[in-house]
Amino acid sequence: MENGNRMSDTDHHAAATPQARAAALRARYGADPALDVAWNATVAGLLAHRTVRAFRPDPLPAGTLETLVAAAQSAASSSNLQTWSVVAVEDPAAKARLSEVARGQRHVAEAPLVLVWLADLSRLEALGRDRAKATDGLDYLEMLMVGVVDAALAAQNATVALESLGLGTVYIGALRNDPEAVAELLGLPPNVLAVFGLCVGHPDPARPAAVKPRLPQDVVLHRGRYEPAQAGRAVAAYDAAMRDFQAGQGMPQAGWSDAALDRVRGPGSLSGRDRLREILERRGFGLK
Ligand SMILES: Cc1cc2nc3c(=O)[nH]c(=O)nc-3n(C[C@H](O)[C@H](O)[C@H](O)COP(=O)(O)O)c2cc1C
Repeated sequence: MENGNRMSDTDHHAAATPQARAAALRARYGADPALDVAWNATVAGLLAHRTVRAFRPDPLPAGTLETLVAAAQSAASSSNLQTWSVVAVEDPAAKARLSEVARGQRHVAEAPLVLVWLADLSRLEALGRDRAKATDGLDYLEMLMVGVVDAALAAQNATVALESLGLGTVYIGALRNDPEAVAELLGLPPNVLAVFGLCVGHPDPARPAAVKPRLPQDVVLHRGRYEPAQAGRAVAAYDAAMRDFQAGQGMPQAGWSDAALDRVRGPGSLSGRDRLREILERRGFGLK
């Protein structure tokens, strides 16, 4: 199961056994955690998540787009404002342009479908304009956060639905390398931000993805009160688990902490996203 692209129905059934549950937890943590975890097909499916970056070229089954949007719209939404939208991109030239924005990530051009998830404050702005009602509340950073959170929850619901159907996805935060190029390509009005893309396709069984381990629970879970990080030993163990994962994937065995620190070393490590505030202002967002 760990090395396959998808969990088949048989895997879900098998995951009901204590051995399969232990195997799923071992894959998720790269260790044998003593965790009291309830188990069903939904939990098993969530724990089996892996990002897929290699897709078969075949088209998606009929109804996939409608299914994922229904799942996305079923996510919670702040005050039910539904401040998100999504653009479904299938045109090869448009996908190639998005791939360029994402510094040439091949899966963006290769996936049959690329979804661009939007924080969308323009709908409420237009409604206010039509009704001659004030919408000054949209000019605050809080509302951008509402839109970003709404878009993320919607996209993740879509991802969970797609994975349950045997499809694979990869988020593309790299679309924020150049939000203005994405806005121009997709005709986005002011007050709309492409938060990230999501490539969707059939996982290529010849290039399978595996479950990537996560930090131990006691690093991320604080009970009752936040405990400042004392995670030295846990991080060292996690680096070792990540090196094992990377070896299994034929990747350089870089571990986690060095790469994570490199990703945040300074503005130069943000792939152009250090300019995001000024771009948002140009795109009409008030960030009061
Ligand atoms: C918001 C967001 C943006 C991401 N952007 C990219 C991206 O641009 N390219 C990519 O290959 N993976 C991207 N990823 C995937 C992460 O690298 C991946 O989720 C992480 O390494 C954990 O691996 P897993 O999803 O297989 O567990 C992104 C994930 C998220 C949540």
